Amino acid sequence: MSSFFTGGHVSDGENPDETESFEINKDLIFCGTERFESIYDNWNDHLASIDIDDDVRQTFKIGNIPEKLPIQLLDSLKSIPRVDYAKFDCSLDYVASRIKSTEAVLWTRFLKFFDFKEEQLALVKLICEELQSDIENYLGTSFRIINVKAFETLPGSYHFGVNKVHRDSLYPKHTYKVFLYLTPPNLQDGTTIVYTGVREHAEKTHVEGPIGTYLLFNPVRLRHHGIPPEIKPRAMLEIILVPSHKTEINPTFNGTNSTHPVSP
Ligand SMILES: [Fe+2]
Repeated sequence: MSSFFTGGHVSDGENPDETESFEINKDLIFCGTERFESIYDNWNDHLASIDIDDDVRQTFKIGNIPEKLPIQLLDSLKSIPRVDYAKFDCSLDYVASRIKSTEAVLWTRFLKFFDFKEEQLALVKLICEELQSDIENYLGTSFRIINVKAFETLPGSYHFGVNKVHRDSLYPKHTYKVFLYLTPPNLQDGTTIVYTGVREHAEKTHVEGPIGTYLLFNPVRLRHHGIPPEIKPRAMLEIILVPSHKTEINPTFNGTNSTHPVSP
């Protein structure tokens, strides 16, 4: 997708009718803009240099870790403020997601992010260490964590974008995510649906299990969507990772609208 700048607005070059007012912060780089294109190419070149089996992109893994750490993390998260999604809430060395203003209203309304501090990041690191061998076995290679977020999805958000079938198409193609559920995932209390195969052969799977259940998959390749909870908020830890020459587990939170580092 090509995009261009028009006097303080970003327009999608392919859909001029959908031109929307989009304020530019000159220091931040948004996915899908002209400045983003070389970043995206650099990332794909970098990841192509790591020996990874392309077939892994078409599979997913559902597993779980013992509930002790996820419960400890949720307790700790509940003691810190929740923050709303904000378009400019992104570290300067990260790429910001480009979300239309109508969609941003829904993000603000239905997602409550936890504003991680060191104490919570230390627990996230322990959780990642529990997941390490599962991730390495699944990828067949080492990995590094490039971003983490935790948030609650509020009940009733059926028409919210991430709850419609989509791919996370603006991440580099070998980006993987772990959704680790801090409340038990199921169709009533909120979960994720992931699709494998194509069209009439597509298979649909929903994640179900106790606290500590996780979904590990490539969100760029596999279609997926959230199922919002019916009554209580669904809490989730999102871990974004890429294959790497050496495993590095140093989770950082880079803002409610951050995706991946500018530089690989
Ligand atoms: Fe997604």
